[in-house]
Amino acid sequence: MCGIVGYVGSAASSSVSGAAGGRVALDVLLEGLRRLEYRGYDSAGVATMSQGQLSVRKKAGKLSNVLAEIQADPMVPGVVGIGHTRWATHGGPTDVNAHPHLDAAGKLAVIHNGIIENFSSLRARLVAEGVVFESQTDTEVAAKLLGRVFETSAGGDLTEAMRQVVNQLEGAFTLLAVHVDQPDRVVAARRNSPLVVGLGDGENFLGSDVSAFIDFTRDAVELEQDQIVTITADEVAIIGFDGVAAQGRQFYVDWDASAAEKGGFATFMEKEIHDQPKAVEDTLLGRTDESGRLQLDELRIPVAELKAVSKIIVIACGTAAYAGMVAKYAIEHWCRIPVEVELAHEFRYRDPIIDDTTLIVSVSQSGETMDTLMAVRYAKEQGARTVSICNTNGSTIPRESDAVLYTHAGPEIAVASTKAFLAQITAAYLLGLYLAQLRGQMFTEQIRDILADLHKIPQKITEILAGAEQVKSLARSMKDSPSVLFLGRHVGYPVALEGALKLKELAYIHAEGFAAGELKHGPIALIEEGQPVFVVVPSPHGRHSLHSKVVSNIQEVRARGAKTITVAEAGDDDVREYSEEVFFVPETPPMLMPLLATVPLQIFACTLASEKGYDVDQPRNLAKSVTVE
Ligand code: M6R
Repeated sequence: MCGIVGYVGSAASSSVSGAAGGRVALDVLLEGLRRLEYRGYDSAGVATMSQGQLSVRKKAGKLSNVLAEIQADPMVPGVVGIGHTRWATHGGPTDVNAHPHLDAAGKLAVIHNGIIENFSSLRARLVAEGVVFESQTDTEVAAKLLGRVFETSAGGDLTEAMRQVVNQLEGAFTLLAVHVDQPDRVVAARRNSPLVVGLGDGENFLGSDVSAFIDFTRDAVELEQDQIVTITADEVAIIGFDGVAAQGRQFYVDWDASAAEKGGFATFMEKEIHDQPKAVEDTLLGRTDESGRLQLDELRIPVAELKAVSKIIVIACGTAAYAGMVAKYAIEHWCRIPVEVELAHEFRYRDPIIDDTTLIVSVSQSGETMDTLMAVRYAKEQGARTVSICNTNGSTIPRESDAVLYTHAGPEIAVASTKAFLAQITAAYLLGLYLAQLRGQMFTEQIRDILADLHKIPQKITEILAGAEQVKSLARSMKDSPSVLFLGRHVGYPVALEGALKLKELAYIHAEGFAAGELKHGPIALIEEGQPVFVVVPSPHGRHSLHSKVVSNIQEVRARGAKTITVAEAGDDDVREYSEEVFFVPETPPMLMPLLATVPLQIFACTLASEKGYDVDQPRNLAKSVTVE
């Protein structure tokens, strides 16, 4: 998830900095990037244009690095320009990979948010035609292609060139381009990634969200899917990818600037809970080939070694370790490889049995958690192969691992993890299915069916979010509860643990998660009159009649006075009579259920904590990334 800003002012009045339409492009871009930096901060860059001159500055690291660069080496302030703050996907966070990227002639600059899925075949084609690339990014492919098409088949028309290029691209993208031969405009396109136009007086703006231009205008147009927009100082013209004139959705921004960064939500946590459909979708994106087979390009471990793996150990901490527990259920079931899950800080002090057929899978949002990093280093010393499931491109854990499977959740700002958890589980499923495919453990059709079900998950999460009021109102009514218990079984067990952790972290309420079957071995002694107990109920369509066993557990705690709250599959009407409250989630194969059942528990904890007046983005005593042992 990157931040994007574009600006076109009026050349005539540009000397009067600050006047509407006459702003200095560079100032507008830098202010927009400052507001967008929460979207990605591993590199930043700007391109400005004035009187046929294109000027570019870009730098790895925070925006302040580009500011320092501009101070040291001043650039054209410009009346037209584009700016980008990057959250790396293809290619590490380096100066060269930072946006903007240029065409071969150095006359055109492009910035991009998203993932161009077919970039490697396009790149190979361009290389064969003699094009030289500087970066490892998918974006540079779009830049080189756009420059070429502009010069040839588009006849020097940037809008037409964009139209021809986007029709060759697959995946998700917002692209912004400027060209010195058409110095009065910025042309942009969007598919599956956001793009908003800010309407000014003698000036117009573009942003990946309204926070990019909220200081300058509140009149905005949201582009629809597969549209191209050309902005000049006085005009905004929209067409579809088919070239036919089109319209976006006009709206007025009544949020304040800080709400704008949070997408209109009161907190980053709420925003990130709502980002989850996209986080899952983006993590799935570009990981199958044209025939529907899984293709995990980043997993650069020789196939023979992956086939020879005799044991997997998942190492992680906190929420990431719960994602690892889901991975265990899925990988063992699909691949028939034994999987252990271990808290990273326990792992290396217990003298684990590791050899060169052991595959270590570390799971980390930040890629910087010291406990996990030390465990990875230890496992490497013992001769194991290491794969990292990570959300932060270029961070230490993936850098030190043999291979990486990135989750594409975008930056997670709130300290308590939400969208990264769902993205980690999604990536773990992909890894499991990939190993099953490689080792011939499942039929192609079986894998394809599960992938099809995974692709339906984002829409199902959206449905849960649309019905969030029920769980919110329960949360508000329970703000004085001193303790809440969570029960689950099979893949519902890590969900219960995560539900309890969220409540502890955010609302400072005593909460425990248990495997439902363990209840009678001790924890049931905690149950007394009125004790709230959340139960994650397995699908009635699952194997091993776990559903009826969990229903029995519900009855056992109810008989002792518990207030039972269930999360169950839509249509599972059996649980109604045993529940004070039921949250139904859409039907999905039992193994994929954590991607849905977790969401109401996140909303519950977040709402309850807000009701208590706590800061859900920065809970007490916690740090986003724990970089000490
Ligand atoms: O960045 P990581 O995924 O490695 O972080 C691991 C844990 O510190 C993290 O999940 C922590 O438990 C969060 N506070 C959970 O909300």
